[in-house]
Amino acid sequence: MQSEQQHLRIPGPTPVPPRVMRAATRPVVNHRGAGFRELYKQVTAQLKGVFQTQGEVMLITGSGTAAMEAAVVNLVSPGEKVLVLVGGKFGERWGQIARAYGAEVIEWHYDWRQGAEPEELARRLAADPDIVAVFATHNESSTGVMNDIEGLSRARELSGQRHRALLIVDSVSALGGAPLPMDAWGVDAVVTGSQKCLMVPPGLSFVALGQAALDRLERVTTGRYYLDLRAYRKAAAAGESPYTPAVTLVFALEEALAMLAEEGLENSFARHRLMRDMVRAGIRALGLPLWTGERWASPTVTAVEGAPGLEVEPFRKLVRERFGVELAGGQGEMKGRVFRIGHMGYAGPFDMIAALAAIEQGLAASGFPVKLGAGIAAAQEVWAQWK
Ligand SMILES: Cc1ncc(COP(=O)(O)O)c(C=O)c1O
Repeated sequence: MQSEQQHLRIPGPTPVPPRVMRAATRPVVNHRGAGFRELYKQVTAQLKGVFQTQGEVMLITGSGTAAMEAAVVNLVSPGEKVLVLVGGKFGERWGQIARAYGAEVIEWHYDWRQGAEPEELARRLAADPDIVAVFATHNESSTGVMNDIEGLSRARELSGQRHRALLIVDSVSALGGAPLPMDAWGVDAVVTGSQKCLMVPPGLSFVALGQAALDRLERVTTGRYYLDLRAYRKAAAAGESPYTPAVTLVFALEEALAMLAEEGLENSFARHRLMRDMVRAGIRALGLPLWTGERWASPTVTAVEGAPGLEVEPFRKLVRERFGVELAGGQGEMKGRVFRIGHMGYAGPFDMIAALAAIEQGLAASGFPVKLGAGIAAAQEVWAQWK
């Protein structure tokens, strides 16, 4: 086995490009020195381009959940009413965090095989003028379902009058790999993490705030300290973070953002769609059920159901141990029912062929009836016709 050749096909953390990893090994510098301040300003400005916002982007040393918590504590006061869209594990997390800080949480549980219907959001908002924020998940990593964030944002326009609720979106497993033009879609706040489409090791997360969110930030009464974004705003004006940042990860981020700029955002989105379509065609050809239909299919992760004669967890173990491809399992209630193929960040069509090859081998070794090469062939067809 080539131990350094990774086939990490999970929905994050994702493989880190060697040049990004090399950047992370540069010597640590003074985080309040002129050089690092320049770099900090530069990556912050570049991140605005990735979020597609004129608002402000703040870097947090912490995983994606830290950015989610930062959004909650800075944008909602205790006792305020919020609507949380729950279509999987990460939607549930928004609800857990908001409750932990004393918000009045209304959960809208929709079918985990689908996204949230904008018309239903419009109905719920029309019936409740007190809701101050809607929390949504852009790409539900637990199910491989991508929400229609543009539609959900527009659903706040109620018969000519805009509902007051801010739209706060978790795009931890999509930003950089799927469109989320924050300003154009009128999204008020977006959070993401370093270790997914952004191709950086885990440890950094980001919060982007539009004007309405920036205004709210100053008024909210929730107790907060490390995640008080007012401190981040103030420090950012001087090119600094309030507390010691993960300096080496910022070096890595600089390199990863350069790679993304070289490729171009639109090309990155197209590459992710291609990977999705290849994987879905391959899985279909192998006779396994896809968790969600075309309308909601995520460009960054695909969930596949088990089938009679195929036990998901032993299959995943076999694919990992014998064929060297790491697939993700199901989360929560979906454990044992699905496996998930991550196709985000530093990955391309060849990686999908490799993953499908390992899946075919794993199916054959599990005694599941499979025609070797069928999945790969279907994926290659998609690739060949890709424009
Ligand atoms: C959609 C989504 N939201 C939030 C998170 C949480 O991020 P982290 O594990 O970095 O805290 C994840 C991580 O998998 C995710 O996929």
